[in-house]
Amino acid sequence: MAGTVQGKVAVVSGGSTGVGRAAAELLAQNGAQVVLLARRADRLEAAALGMAGTVLTIPTDVSSGDSVRAAFAEVEKRFGRVDILLNCAGVARIRAIEETRDEDIHACVGTNLLGPIHTVRSAVPLLRAAGGGDILNISSEITLDHMPLMSMYAASKHGLNGFTAAMRRELRADGIRVGLVILGSIADSAFVENFSDEDRRRAHPVWEADGYLTRVGAAKPLSSATVAGLLYGLLTNPPEVGQDVVHIRPAG
Ligand SMILES: NC(=O)c1ccc[n+]([C@@H]2O[C@H](COP(=O)([O-])OP(=O)(O)OC[C@H]3O[C@@H](n4cnc5c(N)ncnc54)[C@H](OP(=O)(O)O)[C@@H]3O)[C@@H](O)[C@H]2O)c1
Repeated sequence: MAGTVQGKVAVVSGGSTGVGRAAAELLAQNGAQVVLLARRADRLEAAALGMAGTVLTIPTDVSSGDSVRAAFAEVEKRFGRVDILLNCAGVARIRAIEETRDEDIHACVGTNLLGPIHTVRSAVPLLRAAGGGDILNISSEITLDHMPLMSMYAASKHGLNGFTAAMRRELRADGIRVGLVILGSIADSAFVENFSDEDRRRAHPVWEADGYLTRVGAAKPLSSATVAGLLYGLLTNPPEVGQDVVHIRPAG
């Protein structure tokens, strides 16, 4: 039987747009006390405005250990516990490796890999304080089917897959269920903002020649709301259900 999130404390990184925002909305609607983390305060506020119940926004850069520590100190002060940590914050770059700037490396590795490392490290004592709970990390289909020009995204998400598997073993004795979601394309998130028109113009023929566009890119992308519903289902499954790696992708 599905559980409830009523009264639970859910921290959602990347909660201001896309999948994170849609999942946070659903959690709040079902009675969770939700904490949204992202860098831009205006987008956090706009997201929180549309949500029911208790929603705390904390402008946070997950690539910074100090910023994440400060955010969780605030969560501890306010709630004293965390029941759910949903790591959605993510960025990508389209770059040939020789054109990859230090900023691109730091953005991808910092957000997609160091981000969840920082949030999990800070959340674990608070998940223990709650008597256990869920950590769900959002990875990407790029870890199953590689594409050219996205190597920093691939490397950082592969790192996330490995970190998540290690945490699953390390935290199971604490009743903390750790899951990895390998996600396919989303239609309506802000992820496209990661790419300029020029990036896309250059990448298209390369991806076409690689076969990526017919292998993966041809399927109709999912909506953030659809994915949020599936994530909500995972987060309310009974604790005895293992959901180590879940692949959510457009059918076809
Ligand atoms: N979109 C897709 O097709 C797709 C496919 C597969 C997997 N995914 C993965 O699914 C997740 C959600 O994707 P989405 O498309 O919903 O993304 P999105 O709409 O672009 O949202 C990204 C979120 O992450 C936040 N963020 C970015 N860098 C951050 C940082 N350093 N610190 C804190 N927050 C940060 C953004 O807010 P700020 O910029 O204000 O910080 C925003 O809230 C990501 O992990 C992505 O890699 C997406």
